[in-house]
Amino acid sequence: MSESTEVNQYNGMATLTPKPRDGFVETESVKSVTKRALSYLKAGYSVHFRGPAGTGKTTLALHTASLLGRPAVMITGDEEMITSNLVGSQHGYNYRKVVDRYIHSVTRLEETTDPRWADHRLTTACRNGHTLIYDEFTRSRPEANNVLLGVLEEKLLVLPAQNQQESYIKVHPDFRAIFTSNPQEYAGIHDSQDALGDRIVTIDIDHADHDLEVNVAAARSGIDKDKAAQIVGLVREFRETEEYDQAPSLRTSITICKVVAQEMLNPSIGDDAFVQICLDILGSKSAFTGRMGSKYLQQQKLLTSLIEHHCPSSPVTTSAKRSAPEGKVPEMKKIESVPQRRQI
Ligand SMILES: Nc1ncnc2c1ncn2[C@@H]1O[C@H](COP(=O)(O)OP(=O)(O)OP(=O)(O)O)[C@@H](O)[C@H]1O
Ligand SMILES: [Mg+2]
Repeated sequence: MSESTEVNQYNGMATLTPKPRDGFVETESVKSVTKRALSYLKAGYSVHFRGPAGTGKTTLALHTASLLGRPAVMITGDEEMITSNLVGSQHGYNYRKVVDRYIHSVTRLEETTDPRWADHRLTTACRNGHTLIYDEFTRSRPEANNVLLGVLEEKLLVLPAQNQQESYIKVHPDFRAIFTSNPQEYAGIHDSQDALGDRIVTIDIDHADHDLEVNVAAARSGIDKDKAAQIVGLVREFRETEEYDQAPSLRTSITICKVVAQEMLNPSIGDDAFVQICLDILGSKSAFTGRMGSKYLQQQKLLTSLIEHHCPSSPVTTSAKRSAPEGKVPEMKKIESVPQRRQI
């Protein structure tokens, strides 16, 4: 979550005031996505950022919410989510006891208990026109999310019978929802319901482009852009090989850059500590059964070769940089054998 996002209390419920974070990088591609998202939101639709892990979906959702300028509430989907977690539930009782001694010789005692209803985040957002950020909504089971169909289409939130005071509420005209999901997670996700997908505008978010990845990695780690560009080049080329179980993401580039900054390492094949953290972080994207097995050794060889190529002992020369198109590096030596992608 954005470090500059403020948490406030609104009628007893914590709300967020999302603000653009320090170090938020706004390249042309980010501006284009947020501009499109805002135009859908302003037209009255809800939006959905969908893409692989670590591509910046949650950051974009918070950023877009900050541009809407309304208080926001945030929920993260999970398998245990049930409708009452979204809407609200009975929460204890209001107990009332009246002792009437109007006539001193007679005592009248009256006790009543009324179920007490507590709004949860969706209800608070619908009532007050807040922005709902529903992160990873496809991790929740579709039946938990069904309540959103009426909210998005009929602008009505139907409350369960437990709420004896109200059976539904009219959704505030400023209410908007911003969803995120990752369709590639192997476990624990549900297909996004067609009915729900039909009511929201989905924007596909792919891995960051070269410019964004270098700028984010430099901004989030504090290392200079040239060093960040070498590390990002390495991560991006490894991503292209598809020799892993889980794609190395923008987050992977940030992680390596942060450790380099913290340990004051040199991104160079000559720096053993740097090579080791690259092998650890990039190597962890595959799960091998034996650490000394041939596939594991082949992957270490592939990674070492990529490190050598992108982070040579001597700094990358300007002419080598110039001869490569943006985001690409000159063709590297062919590796005789690369590990096969492990099927899981
Ligand atoms: N435009 C940006 N400016 C600065 N940092 C960014 C930007 N986009 C993404 N990041 C950073 O990249 C990392 C990954 O972003 P984020 O957590 O939003 O990705 P995600 O797609 O939601 O990942 P996941 O699928 O794992 O939830 C975070 O550390 C985030 O701060
Ligand atoms: Mg996320």
